[in-house]
Amino acid sequence: MRGRVVLGVSGGIAAFRAVEVLRGLVKAGCRVHTILTDNATQFVAPRTFAVLSNEGAEVSLWSAPTNPGVDHVALGRCSDLLVVVPATANVIAKMAAGIADDALTTYALAHRGRVVIAPAMNTAMWRQPAIVQAVAVLEQRGTIVVQPVSGFLAEGEIGEGKLAPVDEIVGVALAALPPRGPLAGVRILVTAGPTRESIDAVRVITNRSSGRMGRSLALAARDLGADVRLLAGPGVNAVPGVPTERFETAVDLGHLLGRRAPEADAVWHAAAVADFRPAGAAPGKLDRRLGGFQLALQPVPDLAATMPRAQGRPYLVIFAAERAVDLEVHAARKMADKAADAVVANPIDEPGLGMESARNRAVVRTRLGLRREFVAQDKETLARELLLTLAGETVASRRP
Ligand SMILES: Cc1cc2nc3c(=O)[nH]c(=O)nc-3n(C[C@H](O)[C@H](O)[C@H](O)COP(=O)(O)O)c2cc1C
Repeated sequence: MRGRVVLGVSGGIAAFRAVEVLRGLVKAGCRVHTILTDNATQFVAPRTFAVLSNEGAEVSLWSAPTNPGVDHVALGRCSDLLVVVPATANVIAKMAAGIADDALTTYALAHRGRVVIAPAMNTAMWRQPAIVQAVAVLEQRGTIVVQPVSGFLAEGEIGEGKLAPVDEIVGVALAALPPRGPLAGVRILVTAGPTRESIDAVRVITNRSSGRMGRSLALAARDLGADVRLLAGPGVNAVPGVPTERFETAVDLGHLLGRRAPEADAVWHAAAVADFRPAGAAPGKLDRRLGGFQLALQPVPDLAATMPRAQGRPYLVIFAAERAVDLEVHAARKMADKAADAVVANPIDEPGLGMESARNRAVVRTRLGLRREFVAQDKETLARELLLTLAGETVASRRP
């Protein structure tokens, strides 16, 4: 279990999104109890939350004489996190003032863990000094505010106040939970995506990597309780709740690894780094009228082999994309050449798998002799399986 969460739902038009937030938290392994305001039930039904979470979903403090409703004090004692989605202007103002006149706001006072709110309202309400001040008060007390974004609002106007994306809310909530899970407290650095090397001011050499495998690893490691950092190449979307730094070239990535690898317990080096780069980028934009030309390439330093490590730490996992016929032979050689602890070998010549696709199959080998095959599956599931398979070796490698 990743953590115990109380999901508060208040009466805004974005209340239906709270269902998706609930799904995201449950999928990540959280137990979620929902408390809705009376006004929220104008938009969503408590039963939806109860069924999807298999936990309680309450509206009133006084449900029935035989059912005492929310035992807010007991629930507050055992919950790690309160997430309010959407947080209406009304609920924000009440929380800031310490008003407890319904089940949700009473619970908010009894809650002892961290608090995340995701406000959503009309632009005028969001800019109202009373609400600006209430948000500032809550932030000052440690509440994490997932800022609303600009967009098309329910009233038909474009402006600030739209609920933040569900992925972001789930990511921030998970990052706010105390570390728990098979990788709790393990610092994992993930590299993902392609590099881009300049030919001139507008043209580049790159590769077909989508960064999906690396991104899935960062996401799965986050959900398994790890303290994750992502180094992401061009085109790779950030992972909510995971600090992300960007690289463009292999040299950029080398600098980031120089800074971040020594802080990590494990590096999952899934980025597809260029092997060659143009010997020097041409200034400006090369003109077609110049006719053809030879592009001189020079090798790029091998980032996996030169990963900054001391006494074998961090635990280094590399990826080997090879032809299926000699997959494991090449992967084993690569692991030895780069002094890696583990190699994830995957084929480059099987249709529908690997680079640019959502699925992959893999064989994992470790220096300590573990070998495991993974059948073709989506990269999210594969990432979780890979992390769990190597969790034991990773955790053991942290011990001096
Ligand atoms: C159709 C409709 C949509 C609403 N949407 C929002 C909203 O997005 N954000 C907000 O702060 N209030 C919104 N309100 C106003 C709240 O429902 C109202 O302030 C209510 O008192 C909030 O109660 P609660 O905070 O206890 O849920 C909306 C009202 C209506 C009628």
